Amino acid sequence: RKAKVILLVAVALLMAGCDGVQSALAPEGLHAERSAFLFWTMAIGATAIFVALIGLTAFALLAPRRSRRWMAQQPMLFGAGVVFPVVTLSFLLVYGFVVTGAPAPGGGDARSIRIAVDGRRWWWQVTYWDEDNLPVVTANELRIPAGQTVAIELTSADVIHSFWIPKLAGKLDMIPGRVNVLTLNARGTGVMRGQCAEYCGGAHALMSFNVVVMTPEAFRAWLRQERSPAQAPANSLARQGKALFFTAGCSACHAIRGTAAANELGPDLTHVGGRTSIGAATLGVDKADFARWISDNQRIKPGNLMPDYGIFTPDQLEALASYLAGLQ
Ligand code: CUA
Repeated sequence: RKAKVILLVAVALLMAGCDGVQSALAPEGLHAERSAFLFWTMAIGATAIFVALIGLTAFALLAPRRSRRWMAQQPMLFGAGVVFPVVTLSFLLVYGFVVTGAPAPGGGDARSIRIAVDGRRWWWQVTYWDEDNLPVVTANELRIPAGQTVAIELTSADVIHSFWIPKLAGKLDMIPGRVNVLTLNARGTGVMRGQCAEYCGGAHALMSFNVVVMTPEAFRAWLRQERSPAQAPANSLARQGKALFFTAGCSACHAIRGTAAANELGPDLTHVGGRTSIGAATLGVDKADFARWISDNQRIKPGNLMPDYGIFTPDQLEALASYLAGLQ
């Protein structure tokens, strides 16, 4: 039995050290570091109180009557019953208020990089503003420069969503008709994951996105590339795919800048092959992933607003997938 208890404690401690792409306890940004520190302070404080209480209870139950007489005397009752909890809990309460009310860390000119994220059932429209203050629309992936404070303007086009990148900051609701601003400041480069944190309907659990933190130079180069129109199909297969994109009706919902497709019902696909995922982080961006998504997306992400397209022959599906995967 003792071994079992030790094993349980060891597993709990090991899990506490888990370093996931989506763990608030493995922070990689200034805001999330502060939240994690607050969590550990509260957790350690609460654990200390819990252990002391259980210890006293066990002592009261098990110790001989004579040796526990002091427990029922006034100083003990007053000290442990009133003074200790009032002092400890007041400290934790005030400390929590101070930390959560403090100005956002990082400071700097947060508006120098402007990004807006618009929640949709069940994906994310992401808009950057380039050096000329022109909007660049993309989807389902957030790219930010490391070491800089970035202000993200959050809103929603339909229902309430919640924007959460656990390794960078706390969550913030995305509310239709309202703009909430969340500041982020990532320490180093890398890829992590964000997730919708407010139940918003059928595919809520699969409303995710990857966050790519880049060096400031790489970020600027990427944004320049991202604002350019889509490249022309590289070969005849992709050309055939592009024709299908229009004849089969894909362009009724999606936009590809540089072509006649300009609808915003679904994610913008201008450089979709250059992203890290499709379907809001449900599949990769290989040709095979595009083919699977087009023909079978209702099984991959049930309830999403794009229908399955079972109408294509295998050759047509390959052509369409080649075209989309080639939009780098
Ligand atoms: Cu969007 Cu849950």
